[in-house]
Amino acid sequence: MIADTLDQRLTSALSVLETENRRRRPRTVESMPSAHTRSVGRDIVNFASNNYLGLAEDPRVIEAAAQAQRRWGIGATGSRLMGGTLALHEELERALARFKGSPSALVFPSGYHANVGMIPALAGADDTVFLDRLAHASLVDGARLSKAHVRVFRHNDPDHLDHVLGRMRGGGERWVITESVFSMDGDRAPLKDLAAVCAKRGARLYVDEAHATGVWGPGGRGWINEQGVVDRVDVCMGTLSKALGSQGGFVCGSTALIQWGINRARAFIYSTALSPGAVGGALAALAFCENEENRRIRLFSLSDRLWTGLGLKGKGPIVPLILGDDGRALSLSAALWEGGVFAPAVRFPTVPKRAARVRFSVTASHTPDDIDRILAVVNRWIKMNGQIERGI
Ligand SMILES: Cc1ncc(COP(=O)(O)O)c(C=O)c1O
Repeated sequence: MIADTLDQRLTSALSVLETENRRRRPRTVESMPSAHTRSVGRDIVNFASNNYLGLAEDPRVIEAAAQAQRRWGIGATGSRLMGGTLALHEELERALARFKGSPSALVFPSGYHANVGMIPALAGADDTVFLDRLAHASLVDGARLSKAHVRVFRHNDPDHLDHVLGRMRGGGERWVITESVFSMDGDRAPLKDLAAVCAKRGARLYVDEAHATGVWGPGGRGWINEQGVVDRVDVCMGTLSKALGSQGGFVCGSTALIQWGINRARAFIYSTALSPGAVGGALAALAFCENEENRRIRLFSLSDRLWTGLGLKGKGPIVPLILGDDGRALSLSAALWEGGVFAPAVRFPTVPKRAARVRFSVTASHTPDDIDRILAVVNRWIKMNGQIERGI
């Protein structure tokens, strides 16, 4: 006999989260979630989105998505292997493969699906997965689902990876899994060195380019491309849901890899195919992403202004202001909100304990004034609450 009702148990667990400053609540956005939008009845500058190039609100992308819906309908109506594969999906897969310089590509309903589908398709109980300590939850979940042994190496530390791989005994495949641009820190993985360690130790390399696609590398082809390691990465994963402004995930690699995914990735096989509107929008966004370098130039110039203004060293649109303490991160985020800036406080378990931060996500649709508005609020907050000790 269980003493409490489910609601009593959950209510009490929620109040524990509240006391620990860990309770999460979505904040409703009431108009298009572009750089300037409305939320909870007020005009705000939105630094919470991953719409790095501003393509989510581009009228040409919206029109392409609408046209795809008119032609193909709202839903794909089935999983990819059960009638849901539209010629439009295959067109996007060809475009992504060409964009990333890979022989082949496979589109998933989301980036999360791509990781929790592909990792267990590749690694099994006899194998070992080596994860960067800060790897995204979808990579961790993929590794857990695979039933492989999981080892963690220090963040962006090829020497430590080498050490951990060197201590491994026994058979099975070794998979090294990392993000190329880290979602909560914005820093980049030393892919050349990681690839060299993998080659030395006979490990395979799986790289998540969710935050690199569209932002880094020539034409936004990603950090793998920028680092010149396309041929040394076994699996390149990405998402359509950030710089490309749409929805969906993808994996690029050899033709055999993609055929294996089609046959073994459960999140691909057992989920309805991506909706035609998302595919049509992504196809258009991909073309603009490649050809409109001015968006990236603007994005990097605005991000530089923020990094410098905050007195931090770093590059790129993900700018974390690390406060450490959950309460202080919440307080700064609330002050920003009062000043008309939406920038969420990110806390454990999204980031490690005592590494709470306010994460700013700059987009090409922001203005220098928007950046200066952040700086004004942060400086006021520091005067009242004391210096921010940590940066990255
Ligand atoms: C590093 C990383 N990988 C994967 C994902 C999942 O992508 P999606 O939002 O398309 O499911 C995200 C997004 O949250 C991410 O930050």
